[in-house]
Amino acid sequence: MPEPPAPPAPELLQRLYGEQHRLCATPNPQLQLVLSQERAVDLIELEALCDAVGWSRRPLRRVRKALQNSLLQVGLWRHDPRLPRLVGFARCTGDGVVEATVWDVAVHPLYQGVGLGKLLMVYVIDQLQGMGVERVSLFADPHVVEFYAAQGWELEPQQRRCAFWYSP
Ligand SMILES: CC(C)(COP(=O)(O)OP(=O)(O)OC[C@H]1O[C@@H](n2cnc3c(N)ncnc32)[C@H](O)[C@@H]1OP(=O)(O)O)[C@@H](O)C(=O)NCCC(=O)NCCS
Repeated sequence: MPEPPAPPAPELLQRLYGEQHRLCATPNPQLQLVLSQERAVDLIELEALCDAVGWSRRPLRRVRKALQNSLLQVGLWRHDPRLPRLVGFARCTGDGVVEATVWDVAVHPLYQGVGLGKLLMVYVIDQLQGMGVERVSLFADPHVVEFYAAQGWELEPQQRRCAFWYSP
């Protein structure tokens, strides 16, 4: 069994991922994963992630604009001191004060099923709460609605696609 790698130095993490980064605990100590809303997301890497989860492609210039106009972009990075890899993503639009809507939540299939999607959503909500946002909505694919409901999101009455989170 190889020794688990030493945790990365806090200064390095701060330089790569910004002040508000969060290390994710996973069952595999070899894997060092970091959530960050500050590290810039590369459009090609994001496209590869969206491909990996089976989403249809969107023109990159439109994606760039959508990211520019977003309130919050969160990357989930597989840590590498030279080249962190994007393995998860979510973004939000909104007024930055009261309301926000979550879009494009994805975790690369190789990293699914170990709690990272949940950590990503907790991080997103924490960042929105930090802004004072009180109501968050999202439009889930029907086969994913339960993922959000299990995390306390309230489903719309027909329980099809729309879910809401309210500040406690
Ligand atoms: C949905 C997605 C983000 C979940 O990420 P993940 O890292 O696999 O999720 P987690 O491991 O954190 O799962 C947390 C919990 O949700 C459950 N869960 C995961 N995906 C689920 C789904 N599609 N439906 C219902 N429950 C789900 C897990 O079983 C786990 O349950 P537990 O806490 O009882 O063990 C990921 O599967 C994904 O990227 N899917 C493809 C893209 C997509 O559909 N995005 C959502 C668009 S609305």
